[in-house]
Amino acid sequence: MKGLVLAGGSGTRLRPLTYTGAKQLVPVANRPVLFYVIDNLVDAGVTEIGVIISPETGAEIRKALGDGSAFGARLEYILQDRPAGLAHAVATAKPFLGDDDFVMYLGDNLIGMKIREAVETFRSDKTFAASVMLHEVPNPSSFGIAEIDASGNVVSLVEKPKEPKSNLALVGIYLFRKSILDAIAQIKPSTRGELEITDAISKLIALGGTVKFTRLTSWWLDTGKKDDMLLANDTVLDDWLTGGIDGTVDAASKVSGRVRIGKGARVENSVIRGPVIIGDGVEIVDSRIGPFTAIGDGVKVVRSTVEHSVIMAESSIIDIPRLEDSLLGKRVVVRPGISRHGALSLMVGDDCVVELSQD
Ligand code: DAU
Repeated sequence: MKGLVLAGGSGTRLRPLTYTGAKQLVPVANRPVLFYVIDNLVDAGVTEIGVIISPETGAEIRKALGDGSAFGARLEYILQDRPAGLAHAVATAKPFLGDDDFVMYLGDNLIGMKIREAVETFRSDKTFAASVMLHEVPNPSSFGIAEIDASGNVVSLVEKPKEPKSNLALVGIYLFRKSILDAIAQIKPSTRGELEITDAISKLIALGGTVKFTRLTSWWLDTGKKDDMLLANDTVLDDWLTGGIDGTVDAASKVSGRVRIGKGARVENSVIRGPVIIGDGVEIVDSRIGPFTAIGDGVKVVRSTVEHSVIMAESSIIDIPRLEDSLLGKRVVVRPGISRHGALSLMVGDDCVVELSQD
């Protein structure tokens, strides 16, 4: 059984962050979403993994994941020359997939459960051609939607339907055998110009294949927009963070709750209320951090309060009385400019400098 992780595409929804980086590398609790994807595959015993990359962000994805040995996996990178759809990505991976069964996993999806059980069932029971993971959603027009019958089979699938036949959305995890490649060879691009995996699975059913489903029994975060990202961060900090202090905390500081502090980080005269993760080489001076906050490597927070926020690597927050509900990219600088009072709520892209008013 192989893995196929889709980390190509163009990533328009998280702009400006994705102008300068791949959306699959946006950090949740200081780790790229893609790392959790690889972890989940490896946990299911899937260690031979192909990673679909795009010409724009491929180098960055390779750099982050390396050869996969850090995850206990063996990775092969597969270049998809344009974002022509999920089924197009699978067709591009044909030489890598060979005759094996495989798990296809969208590289920007984060779920709170292991896929091990579903993978084991698919490995041992060869009576069905594919299996998809489904979850009820309130806004079915934004997802691939499945219709199921009483015997537990999927009967149809439509990508982002205007008039959805159910509220069962495809979570981006699919189990396939090589038969999906024959189905893909028989479909045409959709009206939006993409080779849709939903059309390929429908074709598989039309050709006589049985498609089963499993239900997601945990949270699922489709890390699309700022609020989704903050929620993903809250959930991962709440569910998975283990405390531990590798940096230094002086006697004038107070650390409470689950807090992880990275190597070479320095906390002086500050209050940290968990759950909070603080990366390596961070400086926190005369400040209050948390709860529900992730501070990336090399960040500097001085005389400021930061709550419920994600601050990415090497940013600085200086003399800001209150920063909350914010998502800051890398190397962002937030400091007072012209005077103004009150809480701040920001979404700022990489390399920006924000000079705020003060009165
Ligand atoms: O999040 C679940 C949804 O994911 C499903 O319900 C939909 O059926 C499925 O199509 C997908 O919808 P999205 O609109 O979220 O797809 P997106 O374009 O964001 O692509 C998902 C991932 O696949 C992302 O990591 C980028 C990658 N990708 C995408 C395309 C179109 C590729 O690697 N190559 C591609 O050609």
